[in-house]
Amino acid sequence: MSTTTSATLPDILLIGATGRTGRLVLESALKRGHKVVALIRESSSLSPQTNLKIAKGSPLEPAAITTALALTTGPVIIISTLGQTRTSGNPFAATTSPPLFMSHSASAVVQAATAPKFRVQKLILMSMFGTGSSFANLNCLMQATMRYSNMKQSLDDQNAVDEIVKQSGLTFVMPRPAMLKGETALPVKSLGDAGEKAGFMPSVSAQSCAEFMLDAATSAEWDGKTPVLSN
Ligand SMILES: NC(=O)c1ccc[n+]([C@@H]2O[C@H](COP(=O)([O-])OP(=O)(O)OC[C@H]3O[C@@H](n4cnc5c(N)ncnc54)[C@H](OP(=O)(O)O)[C@@H]3O)[C@@H](O)[C@H]2O)c1
Repeated sequence: MSTTTSATLPDILLIGATGRTGRLVLESALKRGHKVVALIRESSSLSPQTNLKIAKGSPLEPAAITTALALTTGPVIIISTLGQTRTSGNPFAATTSPPLFMSHSASAVVQAATAPKFRVQKLILMSMFGTGSSFANLNCLMQATMRYSNMKQSLDDQNAVDEIVKQSGLTFVMPRPAMLKGETALPVKSLGDAGEKAGFMPSVSAQSCAEFMLDAATSAEWDGKTPVLSN
């Protein structure tokens, strides 16, 4: 947990607040005392809450992100828990998201965040185990799945996000969670950027990921890192 006091807490612009992990980030961020702006698409909704502002628009549009950033009141951390939509709940089902949805959104976020009028302190983008150097430490079954199933385009898209954010010049943290499983916020193990010693089928709860990203928002410990996370 960070040592930042509530008086100095940055605002959070949360993209993906209506998703599985995003809802947990939203709930915990408000509990921790952050003011949150949630950018959600026109067709989605969130219940009004104290210290929550809701902006509607596409995470693919820099103008929508700029409008959401304009609702923040000081230093701000952008957290994205966006995920691709699929034809079924199966993570291997075909995506129904626009092509390169994640990386196009990352480009839009970077474009909006680099405007000098905003004080964006850090980008925290939720990636996945398998991205970049961590591919080598997936077990052989997961490697084959990522290479030959619908997961391939998700991985290619996440690899593109990784490059875009690293080249942006902005401070970033891009956690690479293992399979999301379980409900409770168990302690998080960071397995390094490449996920060494990950074991055969590691998992982490979405709540643990949410708490990790909020801890990383107010600590420099993970800046510039892409840690593989498990419980
Ligand atoms: N599942 C796993 O085991 C696992 C493991 C590691 C990493 N991850 C990654 O972690 C991230 C978060 O996962 P999750 O399960 O929490 O995500 P999720 O529940 O699928 O939520 C996805 C979010 O993205 C939004 N979204 C999707 N398509 C959109 C579009 N075209 N325009 C605007 N918003 C859109 C959704 O908004 P709506 O509510 O409006 O649809 C929702 O808020 C994903 O990138 C995923 O790949 C997942």
